[in-house]
Amino acid sequence: MTKIFLDTASASEIREFLSWGIGDGVTTNQKIFLSEGNVDFKQRVLEICNMKKEWPVSVETTTHTYEELVEEAREYSSWHKNVVVKVAMMKDGTGLKVVKKLHDEGIKTNMTVMVTFNQLYLAAKAGATYVSLFFNRARDAGLDPVKTIHEIMPFLEKETESELIVGSIRKPEDVEEVASAGAHIITITPKVIQQMPFHQKTEDTIKEFDDAWNQFVTTNKAPPLTQAGRNT
Ligand code: E4P
Repeated sequence: MTKIFLDTASASEIREFLSWGIGDGVTTNQKIFLSEGNVDFKQRVLEICNMKKEWPVSVETTTHTYEELVEEAREYSSWHKNVVVKVAMMKDGTGLKVVKKLHDEGIKTNMTVMVTFNQLYLAAKAGATYVSLFFNRARDAGLDPVKTIHEIMPFLEKETESELIVGSIRKPEDVEEVASAGAHIITITPKVIQQMPFHQKTEDTIKEFDDAWNQFVTTNKAPPLTQAGRNT
C-alpha cells in the first residue's frame, strides 16, 4: 500500500495526523519552513525526528556548489539518524554528484524537484534513497505525471533500492490518482489531508441516522443508552 508522508514542518499538525494513524514519514522544504514563521530550524527538525522511533524526515539543502552541498548535508545528517537530506536535481549534474557522494558515505538522500522520467532515472542511478516527483508542477509544465509513475515504478522496483515519493499534491483527487498508480509514497500537505475524510453524502447519511435514532429514543419504551454506550 502506498505510504503517506506528511508534507509539513508543523509539530502540532504532525501530532494530530499521527493520532489518526497517518504518517510514515515527513517531508519539508524552504517554503514549508517559511510558513512556520519564527521557529528554530534545528530544534524543530529534532522535535519532528523524535516523534516516531524510526521514520524518515526530509530536510532540504539550501546551498548551490558541490562542496557546500556536501558539507550542508553532512551537518543535517549528523543531527539525527532519521534525517534524510533533500538535494535538488540541478541541470549541470551537481545534484547527482552530491547524491552519489552522500550515498557512498551512507547518508540517506531524497533527490527532489523532479518532473520527468529521465530525472527520476538518473537520481535512482546516483543512489538516491528517495526520488521525488512533483505531481502538479509536472502538470503545470504540460507533462503527464500519472504516466511517469507507471513508467518509473517497475524500473525502481526491479533494478534499484530507491523509493518514489510523489509530492506537489494540491487536492484530494490527486491522492487517488497517485495511490492508484502505485507510487511507493505520497507526501501530502495538512490542508489536503484535512479534506480527505469529507464527503457530503457521508455527512448527510450521519445526519439521517442521528435523526432516526432521536426518533427511536423518543418513541420507544426501551431504555436509552448511557453516555458510555451501555444499556442501563
Ligand atoms: C514537495 O514535496 C512539495 O509537495 C512541495 O511543497 C511542492 O508543492 P507545490 O507544487 O504545491 O508548491
